[in-house]
Amino acid sequence: MNDPLAQLAAEAVADPDLTYFAFAAGARSGPRVPPLMPTSAALPEVLCGRYRIERLLGVGGMGAVYQACDLLREQFGDPQPYVALKTLGEDFAEYPDASALLYSEFALTSRLRHANVVQLHAFDIDPLSQRAFITLELLSGCTLDRFIDEHPAGAPWGDAREIGLALLEALAHAHAAGVLHGDLKPSNVMVGDQGLRLFDFGLGQAQENRLPGLPQLCRSRFAAWTLRYAAPELLDGEALSAAADIYALSCVLYELCTGRHPFRRLSGKQARAMQLQAEASVLAPPIARALQAGLAFDPARRASLEELLQAFRTAPQPSSRLMRWLGRWPA
Ligand SMILES: Nc1ncnc2c1ncn2[C@@H]1O[C@H](COP(=O)(O)OP(=O)(O)O)[C@@H](O)[C@H]1O
Ligand SMILES: [Mg+2]
Repeated sequence: MNDPLAQLAAEAVADPDLTYFAFAAGARSGPRVPPLMPTSAALPEVLCGRYRIERLLGVGGMGAVYQACDLLREQFGDPQPYVALKTLGEDFAEYPDASALLYSEFALTSRLRHANVVQLHAFDIDPLSQRAFITLELLSGCTLDRFIDEHPAGAPWGDAREIGLALLEALAHAHAAGVLHGDLKPSNVMVGDQGLRLFDFGLGQAQENRLPGLPQLCRSRFAAWTLRYAAPELLDGEALSAAADIYALSCVLYELCTGRHPFRRLSGKQARAMQLQAEASVLAPPIARALQAGLAFDPARRASLEELLQAFRTAPQPSSRLMRWLGRWPA
């Protein structure tokens, strides 16, 4: 298959956990920044004469993230000269305005300062290859999807509570700063020695009337979602909203607490059509109520982040592991 986007779409169908991208035809307006020169060259070994690529850390639907050595820091004797370097996948890098996507991720994330949100260093363009890239804090540990896989019956409540609160607080901070994430899912969260970090605001956008002047990606031109975590109204064509982020995060939290996707890995639209309800009996009642409300198909009836935070802060500890295994919780 020659068309990289068609190929990505095919991969997304084969793996529903992959983000699905489409440059929809008939755009009314593109990004307001002039397109950067397209590039199809392979990634150079050293970018901007400063960042030496050392190894691939991970690939997502759009980008590839490498460990790089910052030669400038190394020259000044910094014992930890390593950074993470994110660039678009080679297929994507060919598209003239694709770098604007990466800049959007940089512009949104760099406005956030929170212990549970990844810290960005810089956006840059390698002058020789014209390759755009972001440098950011190098994270260690594992992504939350691996952590969930390792706990097929759900994470122990102490861990689930700690991770849940960190994620809810990270998202509350982003929303308060006017930033919507747009692609909350376990593979966009890292847990490790440095604590929890939410990352990949690549499909994020500023809330309406916030951060004017930033290049706005036009979602009617660029539709993107991960089916399993996309709120049903997004799949109906509605704009990204804080409520859509809350739906996705509630899916993630439900998976974390139970080891299972709330709707058998179906999309929100399918689950709504089948009138499914996330099973509550395996969860402490206040958490079950909060997550069911976070997963409401109607965005107007969905729980707020404050309600979810309150439930995670105050839910009782199960009195014994046995009780938890039996699914019997203190009232
Ligand atoms: N700062 C980082 N440090 C270490 N690994 C990272 C970092 N950022 C991303 N990764 C790894 O790279 C993968 C893809 O990164 P991501 O930003 O999600 O790209 P995409 O936008 O393509 O989904 C992640 O799932 C993770 O495994
Ligand atoms: Mg990602």
